Amino acid sequence: MQIFKRLETDNYEQLIFCHDAASGLRAIICIHDTTLGPALGGLRIWNYRSEEEAVEDVLRLARGMTYKSAAAGLDLGGGKAVIIGDPKKIKSRELFHAFGRYVNTLHGRYITAQDMNTTPEDINWIHEVTDYVVGIPEKSGDPSPITAFGVFRGILAAVNEVFGSEDLNGRVVAVQGLGAVGYKLCQHLHEAGAEIIVTDIDPVRVQAAVQKFGAAAAAPEEIYSVACDVFAPCAMGAVINEQTVDELKCRIVAGSANNQLADGSFGDRLMEREILYVPDYVINSGGVINVYEELRGYNRDNAMEKAAAIYDSVAKIIEIAKRDNISTSRAADQMAEERIQAGKQK
Ligand SMILES: NC(=O)c1ccc[n+]([C@@H]2O[C@H](COP(=O)([O-])OP(=O)(O)OC[C@H]3O[C@@H](n4cnc5c(N)ncnc54)[C@H](O)[C@@H]3O)[C@@H](O)[C@H]2O)c1
Repeated sequence: MQIFKRLETDNYEQLIFCHDAASGLRAIICIHDTTLGPALGGLRIWNYRSEEEAVEDVLRLARGMTYKSAAAGLDLGGGKAVIIGDPKKIKSRELFHAFGRYVNTLHGRYITAQDMNTTPEDINWIHEVTDYVVGIPEKSGDPSPITAFGVFRGILAAVNEVFGSEDLNGRVVAVQGLGAVGYKLCQHLHEAGAEIIVTDIDPVRVQAAVQKFGAAAAAPEEIYSVACDVFAPCAMGAVINEQTVDELKCRIVAGSANNQLADGSFGDRLMEREILYVPDYVINSGGVINVYEELRGYNRDNAMEKAAAIYDSVAKIIEIAKRDNISTSRAADQMAEERIQAGKQK
């Protein structure tokens, strides 16, 4: 890989390779853009097949954080970190201390947080050696309730656009994935009077949603083709792809999962099918909104208020998309880029 060429392509600021023999740490920190503020993004541990794969992942994820925070109106830039290795084997207090010391050397240009395969306990260990870490259990804690609330607000904005009212009574929402976010989203939807169809690969979770919310259950592979008003992907990425895009029988796609579109072209495909897509990084920004609040001491009411404003961000993106006749995913990128550009001119 020609690293500098790659960094030039998407205007990356910095890529840092971190090695510590004693703890076995092999980590990469990427700072994509700090125009709007410090680069904030979680730490992921993954057993990458190659160093190139790890570099590509951290680059992609860091850039995604720049867009997510910019679109959410936060004074944050985008960054991310990965530790290479099997999370079941390599974790130790020493490893997180070594990582935290590297974060500390950046003096706040990068702020780390929890991501895939890191836990609140890991975050506490990092916090023992640096203050540049958020998501500390006794502060902002579990982000999933705020994320779920933000997704609910985004769904309301989309429903209002498509049906001319945000009333969810009798509207059908299909929720894929009943984990930390999906289950809590069902709770909001149920309270608002929506009819819910659920799926999960874990039958216990499906059963719980059926009992608690009177939801109907669908098999995991059936969820794409159930007739519904809103399809809410809350499990994994790339669910809008060549196989599924023509199967959908919904008017709106709006859920918490990251990277829902297999690639950017599927945003256009949804637009052609007149299905309103609510860009994932906009509707699921409750998590980063929550940790952002922690940088100012943490006030849950403020975090909820900002997550409620996801409604307005979604409405604005729909407006841009209609005005410029572009897909909502392109409109979201445009909105984020405009904010960063304005920041550069300050
Ligand atoms: N937790 C947050 O605050 C947050 C913030 C932003 C984005 N997200 C994204 O939202 C999504 C859900 O996050 P979470 O924290 O609820 O994760 P989670 O691991 O708690 O839940 C995921 C759920 O999806 C189910 N699942 C996995 N594969 C499935 C399949 N093929 N079909 C149906 N269900 C399947 C799992 O069994 C699990 O119940 C992820 O993509 C995550 O990256 C989460």
